[in-house]
Amino acid sequence: MRADFAFLDSGTGGIPYMLDLKKKNPAALCVYLGDTGHFPYGEKSPSEVLECASESVSLIRRRWNPRTLVIACNTISVAALRDLRLRFPDLPIVGTVPAIRLAARVSRNRRIGFLATNATVSHPYSQRLIDDYAGDCRVFRRGDPDLVSFIENSFFRSTAGEKTAACLPSIEFFRKNCCDTVILGCTHFTHIADLYQRLCGGQIRVVDSRDGVSNQAIRVEEGNPGPFPPGNDSGFGDFEDLSFFVTAASEIQAEEYRALCEKCSIPWGGVV
Ligand code: DGL
Repeated sequence: MRADFAFLDSGTGGIPYMLDLKKKNPAALCVYLGDTGHFPYGEKSPSEVLECASESVSLIRRRWNPRTLVIACNTISVAALRDLRLRFPDLPIVGTVPAIRLAARVSRNRRIGFLATNATVSHPYSQRLIDDYAGDCRVFRRGDPDLVSFIENSFFRSTAGEKTAACLPSIEFFRKNCCDTVILGCTHFTHIADLYQRLCGGQIRVVDSRDGVSNQAIRVEEGNPGPFPPGNDSGFGDFEDLSFFVTAASEIQAEEYRALCEKCSIPWGGVV
């Protein structure tokens, strides 16, 4: 069975991206790989990110040969998207980059908070986006590996108080710097977009890239040649639409991923 779209992230971060695309294009056959064996990408060097992501893309191709790959991960996209496209020239790849352009469009006081992984906030690609789209803004960057780990490992079984406590340090930082707009520049944070917006209150607008990425992925897929000749898709692993697979998980973690899938109403694929 050949996937229309495959999604790749270091863990659960890209699930809201896949669900957003599915809402817009219910007929699309989707599959998801969380490269949990290499989590977290956000603390790796750009060359490590490229090697880990390349392994995952090769695995995705062998297993599901998608018509379009969505890198639902800002860290991989800013550090390795160009090289991935060179390594896999016949695979259309859509990246996810921090919504700096959107933030610059909506900010009134030109003070923008940028919340992402350490690798993303410090990468020259992010600086280029800021120069290109938010040249007249002050951008306050915050890498938050603790929040990434919290969302990947504990969020879905944590209490409301624990969730709030995990968000507050970055919100305080952005408040102190009088930001009126905050970018969620790590896909993991989109799981908490509503909570984060509530905690920020009416003075701060929280933005992310889900809408832009799913629209772009659908555009790219529409430009793909097709339909494929019958039988062309044979030989690939069967999977249920929207299945969530991971590259590594202990038995306990696998149970937690299974529970998370249930909460998100997507099938748990297992460890590949
Ligand atoms: N969710 C990923 C991102 O958008 C990376 C998280 C991580 O592995 O550090 O950057």
